[in-house]
Amino acid sequence: MDDKKFTIGILTSGGDSPGMNPCIRAAVRAAAENNAQVIGVMNGYEGLINGEFRPLGARDVGGILQRGGTILQTRRSERFLEKHFQREAIRNMNGAGMDGLIVIGGEGSLRGAHALAEQGVKVIGLPGSIDNDIWGTDIAIGVDTAMNTIMDAVDKLRDTASSHGRAFLVETMGRGSGYLAVMAGIVTGAEMILIPEVPVTVKEVAKSVDDAYTRGKTHAIIIVAEGASVKIADLAKALDDMDVGFSTRVTILGHIQRGGSPTAYERMLASRLGVRAVEAILAGETDMMVGVQGRDLALVPLTEVTGRTRPVRPEYIEMAHTLAR
Ligand code: F6P
Repeated sequence: MDDKKFTIGILTSGGDSPGMNPCIRAAVRAAAENNAQVIGVMNGYEGLINGEFRPLGARDVGGILQRGGTILQTRRSERFLEKHFQREAIRNMNGAGMDGLIVIGGEGSLRGAHALAEQGVKVIGLPGSIDNDIWGTDIAIGVDTAMNTIMDAVDKLRDTASSHGRAFLVETMGRGSGYLAVMAGIVTGAEMILIPEVPVTVKEVAKSVDDAYTRGKTHAIIIVAEGASVKIADLAKALDDMDVGFSTRVTILGHIQRGGSPTAYERMLASRLGVRAVEAILAGETDMMVGVQGRDLALVPLTEVTGRTRPVRPEYIEMAHTLAR
């Protein structure tokens, strides 16, 4: 009699994002509820290639709900782009008795998931990236926590900016997307937001800061997305050279945005996605990502998700500018 339980592999890949741990926990426990078992793959696709596996039972994921990062570790894998290593990974999965795989990560990681699905592996992807640039989902795991981290940091910077009458240039992450910068601009009341989607020159920005000073602003917060057409160091230099009224300070928030305890919203989102991924894989679905659409979760084909970028909604860009007056 074959009493082998359906076995699901799970990995986190690419940049980590707060919420990955609650998602892993939810998947493991939902699997247990459905009489399936989970094997954790360490170090993303690198661990799949190397066969770095560890069984994950319900008790193994206790106490991780509130922890940032990922207990499975994550890597960016160049090797996994090569067919030869993908085949090696599939061999390892078969050897470990895996019947399916859940991949939590950004667009590059979901591309890897699709490559496996094309070779017959049952794969479900989950969107995990603070950048919120993944097509097919309103929001990804990590975005809400990162936003709250940025908001907290910028609120603090505003305190000191206003005490000293300074302009603060604050760089947010997001790779080629201005999402975090736009939303951060709105929720912190930034005076200016520079994003890749709306290219500007250093001169134009310096002129606007000068105008803001002349209009009577007592300090200024300028959020600069890391992918913006203007680099923060060049801008700081230009503001100093041009004497725009304010003296300038630069803060690069950096990887602090990727850490921290997931927010309540994040834990809920990650838990829902983890449970839904297990349900989908047990129902025989493959080559799909579970996305958030409105209040609901929906399966989106990975072929639609990969090679595309979720745009920032133009009305938010407009609103950010309106409110920055
Ligand atoms: O994709 C998430 C992200 O944090 C981007 O916002 C950023 O450009 C990149 O990863 C940084 O990557 P790394 O951690 O490899 O430096």
